[in-house]
Amino acid sequence: MGVHMGVLNDKAAIVTGAGRGIGKGHALTLGAAGAAVVVNDVDIDEAAAVVKEIDRAGGRAVASSADIATREGAKQLVAQCVAEFGSIDIDVNNAGISRDRSFLKMTDDEFTDVWRVHVMGTFWCAQESAIHMRDSGRGGSIVNTVSAAQMGNFGQTNYAAAKGAIASMTFTWALELARYGIRVNAVSPAATTRLSQTFKGPDGKPVDMPFLDPALNGPMVVFLSSDGGNYITGQVFGTGADRVALMEHPKYGATMRKEGGWSLEDLQAEFKPNLGDKLEPIGIQKKPYPFYDGIHAPEKD
Ligand SMILES: NC(=O)c1ccc[n+]([C@@H]2O[C@H](COP(=O)([O-])OP(=O)(O)OC[C@H]3O[C@@H](n4cnc5c(N)ncnc54)[C@H](O)[C@@H]3O)[C@@H](O)[C@H]2O)c1
Repeated sequence: MGVHMGVLNDKAAIVTGAGRGIGKGHALTLGAAGAAVVVNDVDIDEAAAVVKEIDRAGGRAVASSADIATREGAKQLVAQCVAEFGSIDIDVNNAGISRDRSFLKMTDDEFTDVWRVHVMGTFWCAQESAIHMRDSGRGGSIVNTVSAAQMGNFGQTNYAAAKGAIASMTFTWALELARYGIRVNAVSPAATTRLSQTFKGPDGKPVDMPFLDPALNGPMVVFLSSDGGNYITGQVFGTGADRVALMEHPKYGATMRKEGGWSLEDLQAEFKPNLGDKLEPIGIQKKPYPFYDGIHAPEKD
């Protein structure tokens, strides 16, 4: 798999949603690097097939069908890893679903289904893992999964919100868990998968993408989880195909200040010349800000 054998030899990992797609690639790459892997997926047949593949390549793996969108599932998954392999050193939170719909039509179920798998699933698996990592005194590596959709994307209120939340949890956990030797990073992957088939452009039509091998996201997960990556935490990396990109954290940009604070009159006079021509691009495409001429209700005919 192109990864140096053995950098994870004494480590045990769980990968959620590892029956297919990007998670499968992570599991195979972790296995090839020497980690013992719990291959988790609600589709147990897919998970079992990945376990076989790791076995055949000379690695160690077991399957888990736990539903990580429940506290109980997350608890079981982590307990299984500890029972089978004696520890949990690496937690890769990758499982995901999408339920795309334009904002004004999105239902509560579409929102909460996505929220539970991505946000609650990541929260539950990471917390169960981190408690073991702290108590064992071994530390560990947590790798979450975000997406460029968190920058804002048509039809993805639920998914964008979930990925933004995961990024913010990643930063927060990195701050809180360093004292226990636990690093927390995220990947923002790219790959051709069942999920990517549902990606649509702003026109609502499927986007034309070249084939991207899901397994090419795996080596960065191994690197982050290896001792060589032990100084990296609180970072998000765009991975997939030929790239590894640092994702910039949200931060305050252009700023105007006035002693004593800003009155409405001050803002009316000074916003436009100071900040009003510097508005940020919105959404994945990062096109220049398009609304300088105003945003108007459609004309009635
Ligand atoms: N494909 C891309 O280009 C892309 C881009 C950005 C982010 N991502 C993210 O990468 C991750 C993997 O996506 P993928 O493209 O490989 O999708 P995928 O559909 O191929 O794989 C996701 C897997 O997660 C499993 N899963 C879903 N809910 C689960 C649950 N509750 N418990 C256990 N397993 C569950 C599914 O059964 C499936 O096998 C997701 O978090 C996704 O949001 C993918």
